[in-house]
Amino acid sequence: MKARLMILSAFAALPMLASAAAFTPAELDKAVASLPKANVMGGFAVHSKQFCGSCHGPNGIAPTANWPHVAGQPFEVTAKALLDYRDGRCTGGAQAAIMTAAAKRLTDQQIAAV
Ligand code: HEC
Repeated sequence: MKARLMILSAFAALPMLASAAAFTPAELDKAVASLPKANVMGGFAVHSKQFCGSCHGPNGIAPTANWPHVAGQPFEVTAKALLDYRDGRCTGGAQAAIMTAAAKRLTDQQIAAV
């Protein structure tokens, strides 16, 4: 009985752990502005060393329709997507869970670079 209660409360806590409030536009501006300075070569290193390229293609053009292309986006778009995945603001299902796992390992410096 006690164990069942513990399991139930663990599940009840899950959504709270997994999701954070969405950015307001002002908060997003602040979060993006407070990222470290971007570095293009650092971005290539993150992309290859963190295996981003295994899904999104070595140059950000995904080889199959299973994964979105990520090349050519404005800095803010990519930064917001990665901050949202990493910090639990994007919990849209199995596909988003894949990216949350990938983004969990990224530091602010790596997000700015990639
Ligand atoms: C196992 C495959 C996989 C890996 C590895 C992966 N991604 Fe993703 N990525 C996805 C999927 C699937 C989505 C779409 C998720 C969704 O529907 O929310 C996505 C979405 C994204 C998006 C948002 C694209 C958009 O148009 O909204 C960005 C940016 C991104 N990934 C960057 C990265 C970076 C940077 C890395 C490396 C740290 C990485 N991904 C590693 C599969 C992957």
